[in-house]
Amino acid sequence: MSPNNNTSVYDYDILVIGSGAAGLTLALKTADFAKVAVISKGELSQGATFWAQGGIAAVLDDNDSIDAHIADTLDSGAGLCHKDMVSHVVENSSECVKWLVEQGVPFTTVDPHDAKAGAAREPLQPDNLAPLHLTQEGGHSHRRIIHATDATGRAVFETLAAKAREHRNIDLIENCIAIDLITHSKLGLAGNQCAGAYIFNTQTGTVNVFKARFVVLATGGASKAYLFTTNPDGATGDGIAMAWRAGCRVANMEFNQFHPTCLYHPHAKSFLITEALRGEGALLELPDGTRFMSKFDERGELAPRDIVARAIDHEMKRLGCDCVFLNISHKAPEFIKEHFPTIYSKCLKFGIDITRDRIPVVPAAHYTCGGVMVDRKSRTDLPNLYAIGETSFTGLHGANRMASNSLLECFVLAFSASDDIREKFSSTPSTAHIPAWDDSLVTRSSEEIIVAHNWDELRRFMWAYVGIVRKDERLQRARRRLQLLEQETTDYYKHYIVSKDLLELRNLVLVSGLIVESALARKESRGLHFSLDYPETLSEGKDTVLVPENCVHVPVTSP
Ligand code: FAD
Ligand code: SIN
Repeated sequence: MSPNNNTSVYDYDILVIGSGAAGLTLALKTADFAKVAVISKGELSQGATFWAQGGIAAVLDDNDSIDAHIADTLDSGAGLCHKDMVSHVVENSSECVKWLVEQGVPFTTVDPHDAKAGAAREPLQPDNLAPLHLTQEGGHSHRRIIHATDATGRAVFETLAAKAREHRNIDLIENCIAIDLITHSKLGLAGNQCAGAYIFNTQTGTVNVFKARFVVLATGGASKAYLFTTNPDGATGDGIAMAWRAGCRVANMEFNQFHPTCLYHPHAKSFLITEALRGEGALLELPDGTRFMSKFDERGELAPRDIVARAIDHEMKRLGCDCVFLNISHKAPEFIKEHFPTIYSKCLKFGIDITRDRIPVVPAAHYTCGGVMVDRKSRTDLPNLYAIGETSFTGLHGANRMASNSLLECFVLAFSASDDIREKFSSTPSTAHIPAWDDSLVTRSSEEIIVAHNWDELRRFMWAYVGIVRKDERLQRARRRLQLLEQETTDYYKHYIVSKDLLELRNLVLVSGLIVESALARKESRGLHFSLDYPETLSEGKDTVLVPENCVHVPVTSP
């Protein structure tokens, strides 16, 4: 059924909310047996996936091993990774890479520099991954990152989106923002389960019902809670907020990953400088040219991300400087241009020639390690509702995600969820009747400034009070401000017609509250959560699990 006709109820087998790596993979893996809608709140490409630079971690080199990848992930995760999930993801890494190669993702093969010097570039086939070029990133003890130069996410997105566009069982629907999940309990029906979602079409201004037998949240992270972020504008934690409101548990929201190296320039909006640059030898320097990373970790520039970001934050505060510098100018200009063409040309636009100049960098919010709690099949607490990708909490990342493990997680868990949906498909009917969205009691607001102001205020105090280094007093301040914003936003939501900004603010306020409550609950420093009040790491690591009042989780009891 096309969303462009006048009906306001759409009926699909699977509703996928989000068109990044996770959502597109799930759609492609299920479309041979199901009619799938993939919705995205802006253009299809607007998720974080499109911007991913470094690559995808996978064990492909003969000198590398599954055990080494698992050990590195556990080490970066600072004692909080769920080992069974780490094994599940790592063991399936090469199968995912094969599938991506089959889809036609143009990964970089053998070192292009060597290729120029005469080595033949071998064609890439799914049954022979040997020609893939492997780069290195922080926390990895081996070269194991496959990539498409420095624009891996774009290559993955464009390939998968093109495949999805061609598929007659997949409808790709842009400019549609999911407001809330529709559950049997909200409809007063027996047997609580997810039955679809209310979706606001930002172009027509209408709210439509999308009925579905299975709903998949693939909405990405929540780094827009922070003033400075590497993420695109849509990273407002919508899936986490929707799942929480529908009664699902959420875990480990205090672990917000700050990427150490975001370009520092007044006109460069959130541009990442990939960790692969450090993997290929780039050095971090203070304004006077001194290197500093060895003071903080013996792995230097390739220490896990939490350590590097905190070291930069420490040095910037110590010296009162606005940024530090990343220097790769000692490498051959041809090597730099061939490996990092996107970064080279972006920096050049700002007058920085990275073959000669140092790159000014600062840390910025990058990745949400916590999220909607799921099991190994990406099932949430609510039957028929799945969460995959950055919006989910699988236990893979622990207290600090290792670089390039997140795209991998998107693929592996999308595969697992697809298998589960396939198994349940024939025995899961859709819900008969869902009432239309009722906006008879709301009016159009003439005070949009309130929403804009509250957005801005939230992101500023989250940056100042809930950033890289935390203190209970600052977290309490943030909590008080969030309580006020929550009242104002709820009041606004009840009285005025919805808009994209209002919906995102409503979700960001909720998710920021979950971040603050989780941070206050953790009485230790671990991984990405560093507290001046509790600098020690406790001997036993525990997840921070938040349980909503209307929790739908049914604990498994042993027989
Ligand atoms: P996304 O790709 O973020 O997609 C989210 C989708 O959900 C979008 O389509 C959005 O429109 C949609 N959406 C959100 N809310 C709604 C709503 N309410 N209604 C409808 N649609 C909605 N990871 C790696 O492993 N390797 C890397 O090299 C790497 N580099 C990165 C570089 C940058 C600059 C950034 C920002 C991240 C990087 N990451 C990297 C992290 C990784 O890119 C993300 O974790 C991953 O792409 C998330 O994919 P996803 O499918 O979960 O979500
Ligand atoms: C990067 O390229 O530095 C980002 C990699 C990641 O976030 O996994």
